[in-house]
Amino acid sequence: MLCPWRTADLGLLLILTIFSVAVYTSLSVVIDTNTVLHCPRTLTRALLTTWEVILRDKPSCKKAYRSDTNEMKETNCTDDRITWASRPSQNPDLQIAPVAIAHDGYYRCVMATPDGNLNHEYHLQVLVPPEATLFLSRNRTAVCKAVAGKPAAQISWSPEGDDCVTEQEHWGNDTLTVQSTCSWEVPDVTNVTCSVSHLTGNRSLFIELLPG
Ligand SMILES: *[C@@H]1O[C@H](CO)[C@@H](O)[C@H](O)[C@H]1NC(C)=O
Ligand SMILES: *[C@@H]1O[C@H](CO)[C@@H](O)[C@H](O)[C@H]1NC(C)=O
Ligand SMILES: *[C@@H]1O[C@H](CO)[C@@H](O)[C@H](O)[C@H]1NC(C)=O
Ligand SMILES: *[C@@H]1O[C@H](CO)[C@@H](O)[C@H](O)[C@H]1NC(C)=O
Ligand SMILES: *[C@@H]1O[C@H](CO)[C@@H](O)[C@H](O)[C@H]1NC(C)=O
Repeated sequence: MLCPWRTADLGLLLILTIFSVAVYTSLSVVIDTNTVLHCPRTLTRALLTTWEVILRDKPSCKKAYRSDTNEMKETNCTDDRITWASRPSQNPDLQIAPVAIAHDGYYRCVMATPDGNLNHEYHLQVLVPPEATLFLSRNRTAVCKAVAGKPAAQISWSPEGDDCVTEQEHWGNDTLTVQSTCSWEVPDVTNVTCSVSHLTGNRSLFIELLPG
């Protein structure tokens, strides 16, 4: 038979197990736009709302709000593009405005309520649209480039080339350039289309080949 304090312990353990709820979201956001990350919606008011920001190559930082004393705590996030979306007494969401490549990382909202903790964690991937260009390097050879995109763009040709080479060039800022060079031997191919596919949108460019 269990003694009373042991039963109470088990009850507490059960409550903690049930009321610690975590949600995970993967999010892609285009550079230079604004984004809002949401905290979990709670039935009871959160006593403490904490945002933890974990960016690559940087120490993590925290922003916290305590509702009973209406106090900001542990505010050691120095990036002034990362702010509360509104007054935290009204709305605990986090705003990033504008989004930069350096904001790639993890963001976790922890809400401590009398009933337990609620977490919402985001993995934020910042997207950079590449700039697409198409030109002839020789009469029957075309070069299609997707410059400084993040992540890498995909390049495809219509009609398909007889001889194609694809190269990638990495930039220090996490973007990369993809270049595809193709030639067409068959003389009746006169007009070729390069399609650049990217998470931020697709583009098609066409160019006329010259007679060989
Ligand atoms: C913020 O504070 C935490 C500990 O409270 C520390 O580990 C972290 O390095 C600090 N971050 C910055 C950016 O100073
Ligand atoms: C990344 O670096 C390349 C090469 O220096 C530059 O052209 C591009 O604008 C940079 N992109 C961003 C988003 O900083
Ligand atoms: C080349 O192809 C594109 C796309 O199919 C078309 O819009 C364009 O008119 C064509 N140009 C020529 C010169 O045939
Ligand atoms: C872009 O192209 C890819 C493959 O070429 C396709 O899967 C995707 O749906 C396209 N996206 C848009 C927004 O059209
Ligand atoms: C390339 O095209 C130009 C213009 O049509 C022509 O004068 C030249 O002979 C061509 N070059 C080759 C190597 O076929």
